[in-house]
Amino acid sequence: MAIVLVTGSAGAVGQPVCQELGRRGYTVRGLDRVPTPGVDEQVVGDIANTDVVQQAIQGADALIHLAAQPVDADFSVLLGPNVIGLYNVMNAAREAALRRVVLASSIQVLWRAHRKSRPARVDEAAPGNHYALTKLWAEEMGAMYSRRYDLSVIAVRIAWLVRNPDEAAHMQRCQRFELYLSANDAGRLFACAVEAEGIDFAVVYAASVDGARAFDLEPARRLLGYTPRDRWPDGLGFDPPAETQS
Ligand SMILES: NC(=O)c1ccc[n+]([C@@H]2O[C@H](COP(=O)([O-])OP(=O)(O)OC[C@H]3O[C@@H](n4cnc5c(N)ncnc54)[C@H](O)[C@@H]3O)[C@@H](O)[C@H]2O)c1
Repeated sequence: MAIVLVTGSAGAVGQPVCQELGRRGYTVRGLDRVPTPGVDEQVVGDIANTDVVQQAIQGADALIHLAAQPVDADFSVLLGPNVIGLYNVMNAAREAALRRVVLASSIQVLWRAHRKSRPARVDEAAPGNHYALTKLWAEEMGAMYSRRYDLSVIAVRIAWLVRNPDEAAHMQRCQRFELYLSANDAGRLFACAVEAEGIDFAVVYAASVDGARAFDLEPARRLLGYTPRDRWPDGLGFDPPAETQS
């Protein structure tokens, strides 16, 4: 069965993605700075190191690139994973002529105050911080590698995949349920993105059911066959805050 390389495999998005790929019968190879539980194969190392990336990509058929500094930070922190690491991973994917590359982007690519349409469209972008700028850079690099090198690339604007109990309590307080992406829905969307046929380049939003109020989920449905199933706090992957439990 096909080998899917997942960078950032040990993270909050990476783990449910690896689990869903495993359920679908793929051989899952993780690449992360820290060990990833439950994958078939793994490389532990830094994506800013070209040798590590070259080693990890050998024999892979498809790539899901999640490894990143996942929130805004000083540019010196973003530079290694989100700029140099992205470049290393995309170049290796091009040289290996992978069948599909799926990139983690973010809803932050379109800063909230600058969302002109509701639901927000995939052709809108207006980053509000340096992290979001690196995600727009990822989208544009994907588009360029598709245009110039015939690599098939899907950039996924991930909503809020709540990572841990502290973030869950925050979500519960702020009630921004239209931003919610469950771990289960994320796993299914990324697996659909590996399997979708006939795509040169696409940008899609990834959110759970209530996300349709804020983001245009139609491209993900039409191109990937993904429809969300969960509403907060379903599919969280760990126990929700006490006040949401019945
Ligand atoms: N969780 C969300 O709500 C959310 C929203 C939008 C976008 N994203 C994006 O999704 C991706 C995954 O985010 P997450 O929430 O799982 O974050 P996370 O911090 O839980 O996981 C990121 C993983 O990447 C690994 N990593 C970081 N830098 C690395 C490097 N240089 N080399 C190798 N591994 C490295 C970390 O060890 C970690 O396991 C990121 O690209 C992030 O920007 C996440």
